[in-house]
Amino acid sequence: MEVIIQPTAEKAAELVARLIAKRLLEKPTLVLGLATGRTMEQVYGYLAGMHQRERLDFSLCRTFNLDEYVGLAPEDSHSYRYYMNQHLFSRVNIDRRNTHLPNGAARDLAAECRHYEEMIHDCGGIDVQLLGIGADGHIGFNEPLSALRSRTREKALTPATIRQNAALFRGGAKAVPRRALTMGIGTILDASHILTLVTGAEKAAILAKAVEGPITSMVTASALQLHPDCKVIVDEAAAKRLRGRAYYRWIFQNEPEWQEFLQR
Ligand code: F6R
Repeated sequence: MEVIIQPTAEKAAELVARLIAKRLLEKPTLVLGLATGRTMEQVYGYLAGMHQRERLDFSLCRTFNLDEYVGLAPEDSHSYRYYMNQHLFSRVNIDRRNTHLPNGAARDLAAECRHYEEMIHDCGGIDVQLLGIGADGHIGFNEPLSALRSRTREKALTPATIRQNAALFRGGAKAVPRRALTMGIGTILDASHILTLVTGAEKAAILAKAVEGPITSMVTASALQLHPDCKVIVDEAAAKRLRGRAYYRWIFQNEPEWQEFLQR
């Protein structure tokens, strides 16, 4: 795992977008794992900007989102399909047939989850997985006590997650669906590269647990410590509780991989 500290949330999101763009340039048929939530909005803004200004090409790219609420149809304005269309898919030249989210309105949810895993497998697996971390330490909707080897399945949301996401629902917490379909931790850890973006002071304590604490299913983001190529990009506010801050900064300043990003 590598932790990269950027001065602001904007800079952190921009760096994540640059890293995705670099991979997409190297491999136009990239299989990209995507996340939703407030943290990701800026990343998608930067990617849309790069498409417009630099002709970043998404035409051959395939995407798989981490999760979707159970019971929401794709056209529901609170669904993650709607979010993705609005924040990214409608702003770049991606072929919508190459964009995938679990269908939370499927009649047979277990079959839908199996099918989702098969589709990822048939695409050759995820090249780059984008992640945020929830208030309770989740990745995807892998809530505390999720098995560290879990695959795509239905999960009940914790009260902390319902509270976290309530602001995005017109009806507040009462309107937030209680269940979701989510890639499992095992599914996420199968991705070749992982980019995790965490910003804001309210995430500082949970970020420290995920990065520097023990690996535990109580903080499912801590499972990322097991991944051989996981970058965690954070802003100063989120980094406040990290004990190894000085070392992480030193790595970013000195590793050859980061030189091209330092010069910006
Ligand atoms: C969303 C997802 C979640 C979010 C996390 C952070 O698809 O998988 O794990 O990344 O809840 O959400 P925000 O960015 O809204 O704090």
